[in-house]
Amino acid sequence: CGIVGVLGKHEVAPILVEALKRLEYRGYDSAGIATVQDGRLDRRRAVGKLHNLSDLLVHDPLAGKSGIGHTRWATHGGPSVKNAHPHQTGRVAVVHNGIIENFRELRSRLSDRNFESETDTETVAQLCASFLDEGKTPREAATETLKHLEGAFALAFLFEGEEDLIVAARKGSPLCIGHGDGEMYVGSDAIALSPLTNLITYLEEGDYAFVTRDGVEIRDAKGRLANRDARTISAQTAQIDKAGHKHFMSKEIFEQPTVLAECLTHYSAGERVALPEGALDFAETDRLILVACGTAHYACSVAKYWFEQLAGLPCDVDIASEFRYREPPVSDRATALFVSQSGETADTLAALRYAQGKAARIVSVVNVPESSIARESDLALPILAGIEVGVASTKAFMNQLGVLANLAILAARQRGRIDAAREAELLETLRGLPGLINQALALEERIHKRTGKLAEARSVLFFGRGAMFPLALEGALKLKEISYIHAEGYASGELKHGPIALVDKTVPVIVMAPRDALFDKTVSNMQEVLAREGRVWLITDAEGAEIAGDGVWQTLVMPRIDPIFAPMLYAVPAQLIAYHTALHKGTDVDQPRNLAKSVTVE
Ligand code: G6P
Repeated sequence: CGIVGVLGKHEVAPILVEALKRLEYRGYDSAGIATVQDGRLDRRRAVGKLHNLSDLLVHDPLAGKSGIGHTRWATHGGPSVKNAHPHQTGRVAVVHNGIIENFRELRSRLSDRNFESETDTETVAQLCASFLDEGKTPREAATETLKHLEGAFALAFLFEGEEDLIVAARKGSPLCIGHGDGEMYVGSDAIALSPLTNLITYLEEGDYAFVTRDGVEIRDAKGRLANRDARTISAQTAQIDKAGHKHFMSKEIFEQPTVLAECLTHYSAGERVALPEGALDFAETDRLILVACGTAHYACSVAKYWFEQLAGLPCDVDIASEFRYREPPVSDRATALFVSQSGETADTLAALRYAQGKAARIVSVVNVPESSIARESDLALPILAGIEVGVASTKAFMNQLGVLANLAILAARQRGRIDAAREAELLETLRGLPGLINQALALEERIHKRTGKLAEARSVLFFGRGAMFPLALEGALKLKEISYIHAEGYASGELKHGPIALVDKTVPVIVMAPRDALFDKTVSNMQEVLAREGRVWLITDAEGAEIAGDGVWQTLVMPRIDPIFAPMLYAVPAQLIAYHTALHKGTDVDQPRNLAKSVTVE
């Protein structure tokens, strides 16, 4: 979800909608804005995409130069106008990201008030209104309200009779303040505000702020005046466009050779992996714990093969939402590594906090250097992918793998598993990847033609062995996320332990297998599928295609690569298969239904 707020010089409704559009990439299912005009608060809300809200505003305009806006991804209560933000009680309007955990308790304390929705957010508005009714000023009422809230949230308040005040608060969900010329802004990220200003102050955990057209007064969790720097954000952040592509996802898939090359250059110097001196010592660590959600979790799962095979480092991979509650023992010699594109995923952040004070070192691999996860780590390693807008992660996955591959090579060296020559050779293989990825991207046309049939399938299976197994999971995730076709990923060896029961001529089976030491075993697995009239789509290299021979439904021939880093190269056809299947189906690729880019709630 996204928050914006504007204290402007001009009519604010179109500016708010425009800013919300820049937050669309985060995923949402309803939207709304509120303004204050001649002292009166009013709002408009609509279910579905922002054009519904724009249409509504044409017929039923909203005047005013001060306003707040929100895109909502439903948590408490389904997507409906009633549940959409802003929530308003007449005297105060509130927009909110996150979850107010004690909302039931607060609601029962406010039982004499009239609630109109089921949301936790309305409780905030009602509570604040109750303090206003007691005679508190807007600033006092908002401050008092914040003291009663438990959970994770970013909030913006707008008040009746106050055309020069937005109160903003951050606890667990990011929020920033933008500085303009006689105007001030609030946004859940700098991207939302980028056409308005590039001078940004990030609120810290627990901060709240009184924003007026003259500036901002920021207080910390204890209510003390806080000094937070304003930073000029890069022009790159300000620019988000599709660069001629039909979708952000396509643009981001095609950016991979460039962003990966940048990432690899950053993490190596000549023939050695380069990290700041003493940043990481894998010789001293007894276990690596990798924790993440979604696609980032699959990047960790690929990296496990690398850390174990190259560096002989025992490695656990965990889903953050499981790790945080399972009470796993964490040795004080362990390194805990958290991977997150956004750096704000609630479960990953909670998992990180669980490991704090237990593991010897907390490391994060993130795309957003200002994020909470980055800030709370001992060492934050940027993946340098640039802003990723498509909900389905592509280039961030690639660069997460780029960083993790370098760390695995570093670990192998520090643990005496490889010599300088092998290190140079592995880095050489990595450096060859952007070129090979370009060759894989050239297969797009072919993939487009072949996915026509896939789009008709009800269910698709992906198989891979070794480090290609997590990629099979990622391929299936991508396909279901954006084409809504049921898909499952399996380790090839597991075929006969269940999934083979699903195989018939209506269920395409995608096998991702470069020619490697275990290729013959994969061919046997494929034969088992073919014997049951399964339609196999084999993605392999020329050698693999030759060995596999005829009988498969179709073969996609990939460039040859050292099998160890094959998951990075084969990620490209996995992404293109999902993307083109979605194109055939005509789904909303960049904002697939029900999904959010940055999941800041549990
Ligand atoms: C959401 C996104 C996924 C992403 C996951 C983890 O589910 O849709 O693309 O992989 O969150 O996000 P993170 O920002 O922590 O990498």
